[in-house]
Amino acid sequence: MKDTYTLPAAADFHVHLRDGAMAEAVTPTIRQGGAEVAYVMPNLVPPVTTVAAALAYKERLQNIDPSVTYLMTLYLHESITPEVVKEAKKAGISGIKSYPAGVTTNSSSGVISYEPFFPVFKAMEEEGLVLNLHGEVPSDRKGITVLNAEASFLPTLQDLHRRFPKLRIVLEHCTTADAVAAVRSCGDTVVGTITAHHLSLLVDDWAGNALCFCKPVAKTPADRRGLLEAAVNSRGKFFLGTDSAPHDVSAKKGSKAAAGVFTQPYACQYVLAALEDAIERGDIKDEDVTEEFLRGFLGEWGRKFYGIAESNRKIVLKKGGEVIVESIKGAGVEVIPFRSGEPTWSVEW
Ligand code: NCD
Ligand code: DOR
Ligand code: ZN
Ligand code: ZN
Repeated sequence: MKDTYTLPAAADFHVHLRDGAMAEAVTPTIRQGGAEVAYVMPNLVPPVTTVAAALAYKERLQNIDPSVTYLMTLYLHESITPEVVKEAKKAGISGIKSYPAGVTTNSSSGVISYEPFFPVFKAMEEEGLVLNLHGEVPSDRKGITVLNAEASFLPTLQDLHRRFPKLRIVLEHCTTADAVAAVRSCGDTVVGTITAHHLSLLVDDWAGNALCFCKPVAKTPADRRGLLEAAVNSRGKFFLGTDSAPHDVSAKKGSKAAAGVFTQPYACQYVLAALEDAIERGDIKDEDVTEEFLRGFLGEWGRKFYGIAESNRKIVLKKGGEVIVESIKGAGVEVIPFRSGEPTWSVEW
């Protein structure tokens, strides 16, 4: 790899910005991580289930940092009908995120069965709204755990694609080689996002460290290699969505830590660091990390999938230019970023 890359500004196709004091603290870090586009998740409390709520949320985010483009989503919920889909399209909302009930942060009002939503998916297919899938089956007592929750979801992805072949679907935050294979087995309308942290973490990293715990959890070395290979051989099928998920330090302590890794301020930096480590381990080759790949994975491929304009701003990434801060503080909130205290790349605009 080189020591310096000049690339188009990045686009992060999966972010949690929260609301209130937390949003005030984390939204200004989007540009710090090299991104000028943020695809915003709707799992607020209560979840964003109406067009009016999504537009009001967008305005709050724009008031915090007007230089970022916020792409908004709704939370798939029984109140969402084909009429809401049409209204959402008219209002410029990009997609609808589906959370299986109870699998992760603020998912208690999520989906139990997909079938009741088929008319909604049909309307989304017709209107051109994207379906963003949190691809995990909820843990139960019959054999589903955080380790096989994603693999167990993959038949649902394939079934939805068969039923709605023109519906654009994103399998969010892929964490397994199986997920990569399932996305590849589908047509051009199905893609996957990959986070920066899943390009570097393994099971052992979050077992014992709540700051590395997220849903879906990081898995095995073979899975991580699968994700790295999917990224570098992506040709547009896989691109970055960081799933940066800030939680206050207090929520990361105690007996039940909240799921989520906070990566927003160093989004591109973590990707480059993960690629360097992967080359060193031999998971990918130095020549895999081309400038074309970096431009695509960090923004161009996602922009193309979502039909948004190419960037006309540039970022310059320099190796070893910065140290990851210990924490980010706001009014009554404090968030510890992934790999705090370690040296990283710098981003200049
Ligand atoms: C909870 C869960 O997984 O059930 N979230 C979490 O642990 N991060 C609660 C919920 O689903 O809302
Ligand atoms: O780890 C996660 N955290 N996974 C999700 O899907 C949600 C997210 C959050 O909102 O904290
Ligand atoms: Zn998710
Ligand atoms: Zn997420």
